[in-house]
Amino acid sequence: MRVVQLKEFGGPEVLDVVELPDPTPGPGQVLITIEGAGVNSVDVLTRSGSYHKMFRPPLILGSEGAGTITALGPDVAGLHVGQRVLALGRPNLPGFYAEQAVVGAEWLVPVPDEVSLIDAAALPIAWGTAWYCLNRLGGLHAGQSVLVHAAASGVGSAAIQLAAAAGAKVIAVAGGEAKTAWVAEFGVEHVLDSQALTGDQLPAQVAELTDGRGAELVLDTVGGEVFAQSLKSVAYGGTVVALANVALAPSIIDVRDFYPKNATIRGFQITNLLEHGYDPRPDLETLLATLASKAVRVPVTAVYGLDDASEAHRRLEDRGNHGKVMLAPAGEGS
Ligand SMILES: NC(=O)c1ccc[n+]([C@@H]2O[C@H](COP(=O)([O-])OP(=O)(O)OC[C@H]3O[C@@H](n4cnc5c(N)ncnc54)[C@H](OP(=O)(O)O)[C@@H]3O)[C@@H](O)[C@H]2O)c1
Repeated sequence: MRVVQLKEFGGPEVLDVVELPDPTPGPGQVLITIEGAGVNSVDVLTRSGSYHKMFRPPLILGSEGAGTITALGPDVAGLHVGQRVLALGRPNLPGFYAEQAVVGAEWLVPVPDEVSLIDAAALPIAWGTAWYCLNRLGGLHAGQSVLVHAAASGVGSAAIQLAAAAGAKVIAVAGGEAKTAWVAEFGVEHVLDSQALTGDQLPAQVAELTDGRGAELVLDTVGGEVFAQSLKSVAYGGTVVALANVALAPSIIDVRDFYPKNATIRGFQITNLLEHGYDPRPDLETLLATLASKAVRVPVTAVYGLDDASEAHRRLEDRGNHGKVMLAPAGEGS
């Protein structure tokens, strides 16, 4: 099978397609032909050697994938050859930048016919993160004011749709005219351009848009300096969920920006959550059903073939994506 292999840390150019022997499913495992694989920031960080978990090459990247089961190992019940499934994993476990992957049956979720395998493969990381942070950490509900940073990103574009679908009042922040115009199409209440705001203009704008209260829930998908802005933007009794540090920079904060508001700061990291026993399957089933109902859609910027995995990484690194960047390992890409 063809896979994108990371032989050494470096720039996008280190991503090479190589031939490896076809894998065989062991007990409790299935073999999947991978028709969709998500490209995520964690892949870019792992490739460059900056990821805090520091996986070591040689690596097959890709933590989320969807495809069709082509073989069952011994002792697999409830799944069948030809079934469409999605899986959440980690680099090399098995790594979905590959035509095929062997996955433990306990990691799989069946994909309904109404959802394409590319869309399904986009769910586990970005959409699963948005879902968990909004609902389980942020208590998402109708009428709640929700501030989402980097709203045109993979996580952000999922979050604004899930929040709007729940009846929340969404304030979306994105960088530049093209992204703010794109975000405005998703039925959000307000869109702010981060490139046009300096100093404390963002919390001031959020206060103005919420009758002086601030946002009841802030989804901080950026970190660094933006986290300080998130603390200034949160309402009395509100919640800030911090899940990223895109700029790989520290945050300088003033605790007086949040403790007088009795605000809550929650952290989220999906890999650590999985390691501490989180079973993502029920949430993924809910997301698949939500997608099948057409209440939301997965915005896909581009679908690349395995040969163009480095282009896919460049697209993310250049901040050129609107929504998700995907690979079609066993298909053509576009
Ligand atoms: N904790 C977790 O478990 C978890 C799970 C999923 C993702 N994440 C993290 O969440 C973040 C968002 O993920 P994603 O998949 O939505 O990412 P993405 O689609 O690549 O979008 C990242 C966006 O962040 C904004 N940004 C602001 N400052 C930036 C900077 N200095 N460098 C690069 N981008 C910057 C950009 O949007 P603008 O151009 O609009 O500013 C950029 O498009 C990433 O850091 C990712 O690693 C964490």
